[in-house]
Amino acid sequence: MDSIVVTGNGPLKGQIPIAGAKNACLTLMPATLLSEEPLTLTNAPRLSDIKTMSALLASFGAEVSSLQDGKVLAMSSHNIDNHVADYEIVRKMRASNLVLGPLLARLGHAIVSLPGGCAIGARPMDLHIEALEALGAEIELKEGYLHAKAPKGLKGAVHELRFASVGATENTIMAATLAKGTTVLKNAAREPEIVDLVECLRKMGAQIEGEGTSTVTIEGVDRLHGATHPVVTDRIELGTYMLAPAIAGGEVELLGGRMDLLGAFCEKLDAAGIDVRETENGLMVARRGDAIKAVDVVTEVYPGFPTDLQAQMMALMCTAEGTSVLEERIFENRFMHAPELIRMGAQIDVHGGVAKVTGVKRLKGAPVMATDLRASVSLILAGLAAEGETVVSRVYHVDRGYEHVVAKFAGVGAQIERVKE
Ligand code: EPZ
Repeated sequence: MDSIVVTGNGPLKGQIPIAGAKNACLTLMPATLLSEEPLTLTNAPRLSDIKTMSALLASFGAEVSSLQDGKVLAMSSHNIDNHVADYEIVRKMRASNLVLGPLLARLGHAIVSLPGGCAIGARPMDLHIEALEALGAEIELKEGYLHAKAPKGLKGAVHELRFASVGATENTIMAATLAKGTTVLKNAAREPEIVDLVECLRKMGAQIEGEGTSTVTIEGVDRLHGATHPVVTDRIELGTYMLAPAIAGGEVELLGGRMDLLGAFCEKLDAAGIDVRETENGLMVARRGDAIKAVDVVTEVYPGFPTDLQAQMMALMCTAEGTSVLEERIFENRFMHAPELIRMGAQIDVHGGVAKVTGVKRLKGAPVMATDLRASVSLILAGLAAEGETVVSRVYHVDRGYEHVVAKFAGVGAQIERVKE
């Protein structure tokens, strides 16, 4: 398993290109199952999770061609001859569960393995099941697999999600595009990735309104046609790299960065003493003064502070002046980066879903272990500001969500390299 070695090397300077969003691409790809005609995605990110989703779609009989060095995904689901999403693939990536709605809508049946837990939480699927049952699906759990069927097809319905789950919103919207009649989904998630999915489905002929709000209305149609769609910019990759000049000093321009995708994250950067300025190529980010101020953070559904940026923000708060309180309200176990940051000299006190961080003058480089995708990159950020060398092991986690991560950091002056073990 490879490691990434990073040595604190002072202020950063230069530009970092931001890729297409992993979490948009992972819901746009299963949308190909909704039509017999080709769906082509441009601005796709080059990530291991995208390769996993490609393999899953191919296992149903779909064709997925990765073109232009992976930036274009040309997909065709003309012949679907399998409807079983195997545990071996699903356990590696929870987003595999996003094939459930499309398979049900297209074929009238699906067998999808429950993803099982992952490092950050139990990750149940009850909200997906309740919503699809409201559309007339019959879903049964047998030996770890969800057996779903809709022999008479799916029927539009009014359904309110008990929690604004991103995946449950995506599965339900995709299923409802081919249901008979009208679906009104209440307490729908509002993330930009859902807006991007709806824009793509609309290009395919779906009739949908209200995306980005808590109530989404879908008028079922008989069939969807092919389309070409650009994957929206990755707001989590963007937010992650915005924290690089914040923690290490200097000034970095994030190419393709968009302020409107960031929700509450920008206000927190401003309060912490970080300047964000729109340029014609994206966003320019720099520290306002010498010190970063401690700010409190509560993770919420969009447009609140994103849970996927909590670990990265914690790394910054470890070097801030004062004490910050970070409350993780979305996942039950998303502080595994804390013990690793403590190995670097951070002062963090975790009780349940709340972490109290008291900033220290300087972190010290140390060997640390990546435990999940966002934790891995928070350790790299901490290493940028630490004195000496930090060795982050198990970096296969970071490859899931950050393309060319070493090159992007090195491109702005970080002393960083990947070591094969
Ligand atoms: C999506 O996961 C993202 N993944 C996650 O990003 C992100 O952290 C999450 O949304 C929240 O924003 C993709 O889009 C591929 P949820 P998802 O359903 O859809 C509970 C990353 O780092 N829940 O909104 O799985 C669940 O356990 C990843 O890129 C139920 O209880 O998230 C969690 O506590 C990590 N029952 C909370 O809701 C359900 O049926 C939020 O989950 C579904 C979810």
